[in-house]
Amino acid sequence: MRPLFGAGIALISAFTLSSGVASSEQLDAALAGSFIDNGQATVDRLQQDAVQAACHQSRTQPADAALAATLRQQRLDAVVFPADGNFLGDWQRGAEVADNGRGLQSSDDPAQPNGGNCYACHQLAPDEVAYGTLGPALTGYGARGQSEPMLRYTWTKLWDTHAYNLCSHMPRFGAQGILTEQQLKDIMAFLLDPASPVNQDL
Ligand code: HEC
Repeated sequence: MRPLFGAGIALISAFTLSSGVASSEQLDAALAGSFIDNGQATVDRLQQDAVQAACHQSRTQPADAALAATLRQQRLDAVVFPADGNFLGDWQRGAEVADNGRGLQSSDDPAQPNGGNCYACHQLAPDEVAYGTLGPALTGYGARGQSEPMLRYTWTKLWDTHAYNLCSHMPRFGAQGILTEQQLKDIMAFLLDPASPVNQDL
């Protein structure tokens, strides 16, 4: 999607100048009118689901604690675990998924598999020099072990991060269909396999 911020800001300025204050409907209309469909990046992405609408009210947690608890439970109940009960795939394929930042943008080929873009927010393999810091470093993640609760926690975090942290900024890789079940298994192995670069010292 190509954001046309300039046009949006001009429209918002026009509203505020003419009436003094722009109503939220005017602001929504100005915002919606500032985006266009571009390939697979379509303007329906501006529609907020229930979690996004609740989290939109504040930067951290919704003011309504009961609503937050209900939404979090709904997300937890909707997590789909691996059909065959096996959480761990191939860490080498997982390394490729973690490293791949392509997918879902207007310039990406929809026929190609999406990547996880994990390095945009996390340090993972210690020998990787380029990574973002929005999320915590995951180096040495495998030291937490492969107990059933650990496997289920990590899978849930990847499937739908909102199940634990309602207003998390991490993508919902399973719930949103960004990554396939096999890709998620491979990422799990990349995080947890003792042989994975994530779990090597530099
Ligand atoms: C847009 C940024 C972003 C991207 C991309 C992202 N994450 Fe995260 N992730 C976060 C943030 C922020 C947190 C911490 C806050 C929270 O728990 O939601 C987090 C938390 C986590 C945790 C929990 C850490 C813990 O200590 O328990 C795991 C595991 C994780 N991410 C794995 C991944 C993997 C694997 C990928 C790629 C498939 C990924 N993340 C992509 C932002 C991101």
